[in-house]
Amino acid sequence: MTKEPKRYLITSALPYANGPIHIGHIAGAYLPADIYVRYLRLLKKDVAFICGSDEHGAAITLRAKKEGQTPRQIVDHYHQLMGDAFKNFGISFDEYHRTSSPEHTEMSQNIFTKLLEKGSFEVETSQQYYDEEQKQFLADRYIMGTCPNCSNEKAYGDQCEKCGTALSPLDLINPHSTISGNKPVLKETSHWYLPMAHHEKWIGQFIKEGILDGKQHHDPKAWKAHVVGQCMSWVDGGLHSRAMTRDLDWGVPVPLENAEGKVLYVWLDAPIGYITNTKVWADKNGKNWEDYWKSEDSQLIHFIGKDNIVFHCIIFPIILKEHGEFNLPINVPANEFMNLEGDKISTSRNWAVWLHEYLQEMPNKQDEMRYVLCSIMPEQKDSEFTWTDFKDRVNNELADILGNFINRVFVLTHKYYNGVLPARERVQDEDVQLQKDSIATLQKIGEKLEQFRFREGLMEAMNIARLGNKYLTETEPWKLIKTQPDRTATILHECLQLVARLSIALEPFIPYTAEKIRQGLNFSFSEWNDGFQEELLKTEHSIGQLPILFEKITDEVVAFQVAKLEASKSTTVATNVNPIKENIAFDDFQKMDIRIATILEAERIPKTKKLLKLKVDTGADVRTVVSGIAESYNPEDAVGKTVIMLANLAPREIKGVESQGMILMAENANGELSFLTPDRLMNPGNEVK
Ligand code: 2FM
Ligand code: ZN
Repeated sequence: MTKEPKRYLITSALPYANGPIHIGHIAGAYLPADIYVRYLRLLKKDVAFICGSDEHGAAITLRAKKEGQTPRQIVDHYHQLMGDAFKNFGISFDEYHRTSSPEHTEMSQNIFTKLLEKGSFEVETSQQYYDEEQKQFLADRYIMGTCPNCSNEKAYGDQCEKCGTALSPLDLINPHSTISGNKPVLKETSHWYLPMAHHEKWIGQFIKEGILDGKQHHDPKAWKAHVVGQCMSWVDGGLHSRAMTRDLDWGVPVPLENAEGKVLYVWLDAPIGYITNTKVWADKNGKNWEDYWKSEDSQLIHFIGKDNIVFHCIIFPIILKEHGEFNLPINVPANEFMNLEGDKISTSRNWAVWLHEYLQEMPNKQDEMRYVLCSIMPEQKDSEFTWTDFKDRVNNELADILGNFINRVFVLTHKYYNGVLPARERVQDEDVQLQKDSIATLQKIGEKLEQFRFREGLMEAMNIARLGNKYLTETEPWKLIKTQPDRTATILHECLQLVARLSIALEPFIPYTAEKIRQGLNFSFSEWNDGFQEELLKTEHSIGQLPILFEKITDEVVAFQVAKLEASKSTTVATNVNPIKENIAFDDFQKMDIRIATILEAERIPKTKKLLKLKVDTGADVRTVVSGIAESYNPEDAVGKTVIMLANLAPREIKGVESQGMILMAENANGELSFLTPDRLMNPGNEVK
């Protein structure tokens, strides 16, 4: 168990390639991992930091359908966008690969096959909704209907977004397919299930006591309380079988005959991406991926958000253990959620700060955002990002504490010593204490990082700058330069050592700034432990010019960002709007003959609530049309209206009347219909195109 490992395998949750990354994702799973990895690298540890795009699943096919693109086009776009944004933000993955790659198909199919051969699955046949027109089974998200809890008519097969109830498609009242609009039928289908109940006992012991196969695997107290708590409530509630496959045409195919149209479900797909991507990285770099996944000397740590806890602490470990060769995670330091300006971050409502947009709008300010997100990282409970707080932290902490200290030291050194490090000439207790305290603080940062306490780690790093500011304020070297030049020299000597130490301490958190400080100092180092030396810079060392570290954030910037968010409220596509149908060819559109027409007469059709019999002038002729508008228009209100009609719809009989065309109507969320009337003079027979 927790002996010093030889290697670390660090993963961050594979983001879905169906939308860009926002700062909530970053604070949850990517920044903490990056800080941790940067620290391990500074300790000269052998680390693989692995991530990639999760390119399968119904969310992606749904988005593709909505946008009239192929799933391939969608994932290509977002894989690139996310990969670039991570890179630009300094998230230093060793590998960022993708689950739609052939390497991943091979890896996940191999793991499926191994489990199948071991008898780890149970095949279960069940009834699932099927769209007969589209000839496909419907993923939960492809079915909409009325929520049995709150009567919302737009609830999805997995969840009602109005009341938040988790649903199964069979719970929905009046279900319909979101692809065709038709009522789906129930059809039998078979899938491979992981009978999780068989694993309840050992996984419970693994989480609660850190015991695996009768041995102490990890210290359970090192896991976050909310992670253990969430897992134990699942285990105590009883684990149910989970389907490992799905009927879908986009994904890793189940590698068996007679399994056409079936793919591996997310549990056997996304996290195996960690394995695939480790192999891809290892193959490129002359390493053996199996050392990282299978050796007793390696430690696996998953960084995730809280929505993925059960996945990484229960389901994936069961898969890994069933397989038999893989290590289980030594820790899963999941974060909670970060809210934004008083509301939950929401991709569909566009209530988010998108990373790629931030990087564009505020170029070269990666560290400002890294600093703020680390300061408010939702480590133990949910937290909140606001632009005002962003401004305050950048201005009052980064600029006024850190920037100010370093700047003062540079200015004084150039002013009094032409940028050459003066010798320590008359050392006093306070000088010795400063070095001691800052070295002890560096030590503390490491301890905090090892406990995944990134907020506290960053605060300690800033404490080194605070120590420096206090020391400068108390010793006032500018007052001593005339009377006690030896004291001024000593004080600046000490301060410059502190600046060099800061450039090491800050490296995991705000690497761009740390590098700028070192550039200014003409200083380089090779490892974290260098920071414990007292004399990081030698007397007579020449420093250079300090680049600007932080510009103050103005009120205008805050106002711009807040206004942008507020604007998204009014432009966001309403969530209760039906998705756009599949694209059609222009030729299909041209087949329709749409005309301006005038309603000449209107009467109710007896024994119906909705139908009116209309006589309309199409310009070319006068016809009868049956229209389902009686709940929105009285006959007398309809007469005289100029409307739009589909004139070449094949005639059909409705309630004994032959209808020769269709009046086009708009319908609002309450089911009210409205004629579409032209807004300048148009005559019957004018074409609509
Ligand atoms: O929840 C998600 O974002 C999924 N893309 C799965 C992430 S975890 C996985 F990588 F194991
Ligand atoms: Zn509901």
